[in-house]
Amino acid sequence: MEKFLIKQSLNIKGNVYIEGAKNACLPILAATILSNGKTTIKRVPFLSDIDVMCSLLEDIGINIKKDTINKCIDIDTKNIFNKEICYELVKKIRASFLLAGPLLARFGKVVIQMPGGCAIGVRPIDLHLKGFKALGAEITQKHGVIEIQAKNGLVGTEIYLDFPSVGATENIIMASVLAKGETIISNCATEPEIVDLIEFLNKMGAKIDGAGTETIKIKGVDSLNSCSHTIIPDRIEAGTFLVLGAAAKGELNILDVDCEHLKAVTSKLREMNVYIEEKENSIKVFGKNILKNVDIKTMPYPGFPTDMQPQFMSLMAITKGAGIINETIFENRFMHIGELSLMGANIKVEGSSAIITGVDKITGAKVKATDLRAGASLIIAGVCAEGESEISDIYHIERGYYNIEEKLKNIGVNVIKIKTT
Ligand code: UD1
Repeated sequence: MEKFLIKQSLNIKGNVYIEGAKNACLPILAATILSNGKTTIKRVPFLSDIDVMCSLLEDIGINIKKDTINKCIDIDTKNIFNKEICYELVKKIRASFLLAGPLLARFGKVVIQMPGGCAIGVRPIDLHLKGFKALGAEITQKHGVIEIQAKNGLVGTEIYLDFPSVGATENIIMASVLAKGETIISNCATEPEIVDLIEFLNKMGAKIDGAGTETIKIKGVDSLNSCSHTIIPDRIEAGTFLVLGAAAKGELNILDVDCEHLKAVTSKLREMNVYIEEKENSIKVFGKNILKNVDIKTMPYPGFPTDMQPQFMSLMAITKGAGIINETIFENRFMHIGELSLMGANIKVEGSSAIITGVDKITGAKVKATDLRAGASLIIAGVCAEGESEISDIYHIERGYYNIEEKLKNIGVNVIKIKTT
């Protein structure tokens, strides 16, 4: 078991280089199942979730060569085969279910169990299955094992998503690229990570139009080739450091970012009176102003991201006045509130809303990272809290933040990782 010990570290300063986006890299790695030959993925964030995805691919015969120094992965699908996906790996990450679409497209059959991942809600997969069914697959579910089979191949069709699910949009796109004829997906998600996946698939020879819009049209092709692709910057990692800079009254330069992807975050910070300066590929945050509280409602992109909600809650907890966060995406994404309360935050929950009344100070405490972004919110709180905080279960945090300890130290955060039994 590893923990972070963090001492109050105000006035942090320096540069933070942002990694490639985990949530773009995961579906793109899954999509390599569709390729014939060798593919190179660059700007890979070597996180534990990425390692699990690589192991899932290796388990079906795909050859993976990691170059952690140059942050790239070479992938060769020459010896790929189909079998029931390893449950030990599937239960580790929710994104393991993204193997279903490309495997169905390539082999006409997938056998997989319900995926695991962060415990932030029920997280059903009905929309993914609805899409596969519409494309002609038959689905049976027994003892938690899902068998998806398209005996006569997949055939393009019109699919309407009841909700713009990120994962369902990605899975259905990957299933459709080799289907006969045209597939039109309406009310799909428009997240930048989906645009990146589409760009990758089109580079391999897919014919997909409408990336970043609510309607995506896919003309099926016979096969896909290999290519080389660079992952987009991680907007959630960047957003987390922006909020940290604002909360710790620091001065940070967040480098290698796409400012367009961060509009919901930067405009909320500006509304709180945080000084933000955007350049072509970087954002400067300056947290010396007196801040005021705001209201936030999480929404699908380009709305305010649910993955930034816990981090903003830490900032709001130490900001003058009261604000409301309405979480509309996941029904159980308030686990960090109990931990922030231990540190002296004043937060009340009413249904899917949290009412945050800013306090003058929070104090260090022993807290637990209950999921990835909840863990990030505790780091922000720990940096700002008087005294020392001890954050346990940090493996959750390391699923999404590469080299976090070093990056924090580089900007002046007093943090150490300790091992306990
Ligand atoms: C992805 C992100 C995750 C982010 C989330 C929302 C990855 C690897 N993960 O997760 O970090 O928090 O988008 O931006 O990219 N839903 C259904 N049925 C389905 C699928 C989803 O009801 O078949 C519901 C979910 O329970 C949830 C909502 O739709 O309430 C959004 O989920 P979805 O967009 O699918 O998120 P993920 O792809 O799991």
